[in-house]
Amino acid sequence: MSDRNITALVTGASAGLGAEFCRQLADRCDVIIAVARRAKPMQALAKELQGKAEVHVVEADLISIEGVARVMEVIRQKGPLGYLINNAGFSTLGDFEGELIDSQHAMVSLHINATLSLCRAAIPFMREMGGGNIVNVSSIGAFTPYPGVAVYSATKAFLNSFSESLQAELAGSGIAVQALCPGYTRTEIHDTPTMDRFDKAVIPEKYWMEVEEVVAASLLGLENGQLIVVPGEGNLKMAKKSLQKQLDAL
Ligand SMILES: NC(=O)c1ccc[n+]([C@@H]2O[C@H](COP(=O)([O-])OP(=O)(O)OC[C@H]3O[C@@H](n4cnc5c(N)ncnc54)[C@H](OP(=O)(O)O)[C@@H]3O)[C@@H](O)[C@H]2O)c1
Repeated sequence: MSDRNITALVTGASAGLGAEFCRQLADRCDVIIAVARRAKPMQALAKELQGKAEVHVVEADLISIEGVARVMEVIRQKGPLGYLINNAGFSTLGDFEGELIDSQHAMVSLHINATLSLCRAAIPFMREMGGGNIVNVSSIGAFTPYPGVAVYSATKAFLNSFSESLQAELAGSGIAVQALCPGYTRTEIHDTPTMDRFDKAVIPEKYWMEVEEVVAASLLGLENGQLIVVPGEGNLKMAKKSLQKQLDAL
């Protein structure tokens, strides 16, 4: 598939990995549709990328049905996407019993329902075009269901399983699907009120990655047809160890 005249839609484009996806995709795409709740940082990104790609800012809360419907409509109007990056997300730290159930439902809506809806909206156009790329931003947490992240890890495990089945269903369509499973990456996600119990300092320096390297690994993975991408040697080792533990427990 030629990378010219290509449109990308990136959710969670106002910060972190989403903003970096926009930056790196600007080298490959002509139009980027940036989706998040906060317009200001996306407008700043549009300015920054001027001359490289045309950035359309779409304000939408993807926890709400209306927000998701607005973005689905944008996809219908814009036609085929070369890239759909389902990245918007948040995390919480605390035992399932102690967390607000509304916040856990919201996480399921954002990580799972929004991803499913945007895939449904985008895939028919991609099929018609004969190709496209879908990245579902998961997490290494998909492999490591530790206490304190029960719903977060479960939503990410869903994304891995969903991506795997979807890729198989789309075989021969030219559409590539990827579940991107980053480990600790320096973004705003650890500084939100829902993560106030998380102490970044306890995570050794060697485990942290930068958004640039995570997004580069994802785009390289798409080129290589890699379905599950775990950026970083240490993270890959950790994911494999956890999978082995799960196998041993069978
Ligand atoms: N950073 C890590 O260590 C790490 C590790 C593994 C996986 N991940 C995954 O990477 C993805 C991106 O996270 P990040 O680390 O880049 O975090 P981030 O810097 O906090 O960015 C999160 C993005 O999601 C958007 N978002 C949150 N709630 C939303 C909603 N209701 N509707 C629309 N957009 C919403 C935010 O925009 P607004 O606030 O403007 O809406 C923001 O643009 C997430 O899916 C996360 O689970 C991150």
